[in-house]
This record gives sequence, structure tokens and C-alpha cells, in this order.
Amino acid sequence: MKTDVAIVGAGPAGLMLAHLLRQAGIDVVVLERKSSDYVLSRIRAGVLEQVTVDLLDELDLGERMHREGLPHEGFFLADGERLIHINMAELTGRSVMVYGQTEVTRDLMNASAARGVEVVYEAEDVALHDIDNESPYVTYLKNGTEHRVDARFIAGCDGFHGPSRQAIPDTVGRAYERVYPFGWLGILADVPPCNDELIYANHENGFALASMRSKTRSRYYIQVPLDEKLSDWPDDRLWDELATRLGPDAASHITRGPALEKSIAPLRSYVFEPMRYGSLFLAGDSAHIVPPTGAKGLNLASSDVAYLSRAMIEYFKEGRSEGIDAYSQTALARVWKSERFSWTLTTLMHRFPDGGAFGRRMQVAELDYIAGSRAAQTSIAENYIGLPL
Ligand code: FAD
Ligand code: DHB
Repeated sequence: MKTDVAIVGAGPAGLMLAHLLRQAGIDVVVLERKSSDYVLSRIRAGVLEQVTVDLLDELDLGERMHREGLPHEGFFLADGERLIHINMAELTGRSVMVYGQTEVTRDLMNASAARGVEVVYEAEDVALHDIDNESPYVTYLKNGTEHRVDARFIAGCDGFHGPSRQAIPDTVGRAYERVYPFGWLGILADVPPCNDELIYANHENGFALASMRSKTRSRYYIQVPLDEKLSDWPDDRLWDELATRLGPDAASHITRGPALEKSIAPLRSYVFEPMRYGSLFLAGDSAHIVPPTGAKGLNLASSDVAYLSRAMIEYFKEGRSEGIDAYSQTALARVWKSERFSWTLTTLMHRFPDGGAFGRRMQVAELDYIAGSRAAQTSIAENYIGLPL
């Protein structure tokens, strides 16, 4: 099979890129290791920046998001002593949209066939070949038969563990990494949220986040040690701990319910440079990971594919390669700023086992400063709503 762009991975990065290219008349084939049901069963991000909202609108796929999503104009930082309101709308004139990654993926998936976006699910043993020249190709197994897709470019949208980044020779790239000594235990439940806006809490037992997917579906997280087991956290224990960490006011509004999903995710900051090697372009989690505090992961995948789609469209439609040549540098400039914000918010709101008394006093001083400074609140708000492309 021959196509213009072979895309590895049908997460949000791969599907958004596929639709953006297809809308411009560029041929794509997307290869995904898992089934479509499996991809939709992964509960991940919940907050969309304007960049993601704009991309879905540009694709004319934003109708359900605008109907069912919840625009949020602010959020809270809590530390037991204070409840700091970050009023994004007042400070920046902008807001974010609460609409789950699962729903974004579902909207893209449902539109694929009608728009000529070919997605091969359950493609096994995907391997990249000849990425250092202009005729790369991808091979995969489907139902025991080997297939080959020849392309002009390959887009590696296959997440942190996928084969694309690993296809780049060790001598070419460099990884920057910080692994945090804790993870997030998340619970999804069909109960009304405890508050209209998100609450990020720094409690002596550790971080907690009260989030949501809709007016009837809540998403909560707590910081747990890395070696914690899900079996140690029956629903009741988790609800009790959330009530403790979020404080009495929020706790009095928590509605408990059975977990629809419960999982533990480790926290990591990671950037791989460069995001291009020859005919291979990385986008989304294949190139970078942020700790989830601040909800930047999915939104960075969106900004990557916004840059990459524009650059590839220029290449195929106008024969210009300035955009693809600048892609890595352009995308990384925004990636590093989101890495900085996610790291800052993670450092401010979590309890670090080796943070010591000084580290804790720094958190208190910073929260105190944020509480009293409109400038500090504006800085947080403009990063949270998402930096411009
Ligand atoms: P992914 O969504 O990972 O998609 C990559 C796709 O590639 C997957 O479908 C995968 O199956 C496929 N793939 C992998 N290997 C192969 C292969 N060999 N062949 C073919 N296909 C392959 N962000 C937030 O902002 N808030 C959150 O609360 C949050 N929670 C998260 C929880 C978890 C457990 C994880 C892992 C991430 C979370 N994130 C969160 C981050 C956010 O979900 C990601 O940044 C986002 O999914 C990135 O999209 P992506 O398309 O780049 O990668
Ligand atoms: C969610 C996750 C986040 O990391 C965050 O900062 C806000 C919301 C969520 O899953 O709802």
C-alpha cells in the first residue's frame, strides 16, 4: 500500500493529525496496536485548552463538545489554610473546556470512515524502516499476514512506549527526564462533582484533585507512593481519604458512588529532542511526558499536530519545506514551557518524601504569595488556559 503519511498510533495525536491532513486532501493510513474499544476504555485527560477546542472546531467535529462539554472559567488551589481562586476569565479573558479525552477520541473515531481516514486497528508488530531517507515504510501484521505501507513521511504518534522514538538512533537524540517519587490514584464515578470548579489540594497526607467529566460524572485523584497497590484502596478508603485531603467544605459536598474505573499512574517529566529524524516526525507522548498536574499532556499533543499538520500541508500543497524543517524547534519551544508549568504545579502541590521542612516552607511561602498577588495568579492562569501557538 502507498500513502502520503503513515501515522503510527490512533490516540488523540494520531487521529487529530490524520483528520487535519485528510481535510487538506493528503492521504493517510493510521496503524493502531489496540482495538478501538480498548483505546476508548483508557480514562485519561479531562481539560481541553483553546488549542484543542480550536482544532476540533477546525475539523467541524466540535458540535458535541460544545453541547456536552463544560466551559470552566476558574479553579481553586487549596492548602488547608487557604482556598485560592484562580479566576482565569477575569485574569486572562479566556477559559478551558472540561470534556474527556475519551470523548475527543470517540468523536474523531466516529468521523474517520466517512472522511476517508483509514485506521487499521489491532495492527501487530508495527516496525519503521528507512526513516533516514525519503522513502520510508512501515510494516505490520494483521491477522497473521504481513503488510507494508510506503509513505513520504511517518508520524510517530504512538505514545511513550511505542516504536517510533525507539527507531531514532541513540547517537542522534537526547532525552531529559525527571521521575517523581509518587503516582496518582484516580477514580471515576457516576456521581455529581463536589464543586462547580476543579480543586487542587496540597494536604499533609498528600495531593488531591477534585475534577469531573460532566455534571453527573466525577473524576478524583490522590497522590500515592509508587509501590501502592490498587487492592489496598477499596472505594470506601479512597472516598474517606479524598474527604480528608480536600477539606471539610468540599468533603461536605462529596457524593460517594461505586468506581467505574480506578487506576494508578506514575508521574514523569520527559522530553526527547529532536522531534524529527529524517522522514520521521514525533508528536504527543511519543516525544514528551508531563506530570498530569495542570492537564497539559493531551493539549501538548494538540499543539504538536497543529504545527505538524500545517508544515506537512505546506510541503504537499506548496512544495515548501521550511515548516517541516522548523517543526522540531517550533514544537519544542512550546513543549518546554508546558513542561515548566506542569513541573512547577506538581512541585507546589504535592508532598515530597524527601522535601524536608525547608521544601514545605517554600510551598507555604509560594501559596501565600500567589494568594496575595494578582500578577502571580495571572501567570498561573495564562499557563493553565494554554500558551498561544
Ligand atoms: P496516546 O494517547 O498514548 O496514544 C498513543 C497510541 O499509540 C495508543 O492508542 C497506543 O495504543 C498506540 N500505540 C502504542 N504502541 C503502538 C505500536 N507498537 N503500534 C501501533 N500503535 C501503538 N493528561 C492530562 O492532561 N490529564 C490526565 O489526567 C491524564 N491522565 C493520564 C493517565 C495515564 C495512565 C496516561 C498514560 C496519560 C495521562 N495523561 C493525562 C496524558 C494524556 O492522556 C496524554 O498526553 C495523551 O493521551 C497523549 O496523546 P497521544 O496520542 O500522544 O498518546
Ligand atoms: C484532570 C486531570 C488533570 O491532570 C488535571 O490537572 C485536571 C483534570 C482530569 O482528569 O479530570
